[in-house]
Amino acid sequence: MAAPARPLSPVLRTAGVGHDHARRRGAATRALVDVDLEVAEGEFVAVVGRSGCGKSTLLRILAGLVRPTRGRIEVDGTDPWRAGSRDPAAFAPVGMVFQDPNLFPWYSVRDNVGLPLRLLGVGRAERRHRAEDLCRGLGLAGFETAMPRELSGGMRQRASIARALIRDPAILLMDEPFGALDALTRDTMTADLQDLHTRTRSTVVFVTHSIPEAVFLADRVVLLTPRPGRVAAVVDVSLPRPRTDTSAPEFQAVVRRVRAELEAADG
Ligand SMILES: Nc1ncnc2c1ncn2[C@@H]1O[C@H](COP(=O)(O)OP(=O)(O)OP(=O)(O)O)[C@@H](O)[C@H]1O
Ligand SMILES: [Mg+2]
Repeated sequence: MAAPARPLSPVLRTAGVGHDHARRRGAATRALVDVDLEVAEGEFVAVVGRSGCGKSTLLRILAGLVRPTRGRIEVDGTDPWRAGSRDPAAFAPVGMVFQDPNLFPWYSVRDNVGLPLRLLGVGRAERRHRAEDLCRGLGLAGFETAMPRELSGGMRQRASIARALIRDPAILLMDEPFGALDALTRDTMTADLQDLHTRTRSTVVFVTHSIPEAVFLADRVVLLTPRPGRVAAVVDVSLPRPRTDTSAPEFQAVVRRVRAELEAADG
């Protein structure tokens, strides 16, 4: 099957993006160099690369949490930093699942999940209703009123996914969201995410260390070099959807190709 035509107006774009993290002592850490990336509306892009190569930095830049040291970004056609400071409205369509769940320890699961709605001024009953719905969908039924410390690591991560989904973000950034899950839960959540993406056509940028997971979910897999991260290769995944059979020879062939590209990028 032919790869989809490149979009004319990507919903996310980075042009020559580079980032140096300042450190308390010593020289800054060069995390990213010259990253040019375009993500079309409704596209699912996976990002893979060695630990420390700058994947989380890239996602934080796309979420507007970090201003890139070099280059520019666009969200839905506008540069959110054009006025010299962050334009919060430009990042309104963006939801993020962090690598660490980052739940507020003093709020219940339900209140953590409902927090983005609270910030939007949605009333308590509606917030609770939607948060409880999402909790059920993510296997947290019965834990809605629990405190984060009463959850396992994987449950906390699922709560943080629910929190990102509650606003139905048009652009969803996910930083290793399934990292702390057991293999079976991970398989279920990966399939659920594919369904969600098919249903909502949201635009997703998904960081993972799992090549099969990237190939299962993505329209394209972006491979970064070891730090400082640059785009080493982009692999189109044109396998038909819904994808179910990870043992199929066509699936395995793409996995091998991504692995070979990643090994080449590692030098
Ligand atoms: N807030 C920060 N301050 C200083 N250095 C940072 C900061 N965040 C990241 N770095 C540095 O930037 C580099 C890239 O980090 P980043 O977290 O983006 O990598 P990553 O690809 O997400 O790694 P992993 O796969 O382990 O999550 C690392 O060398 C890290 O030490
Ligand atoms: Mg990371």
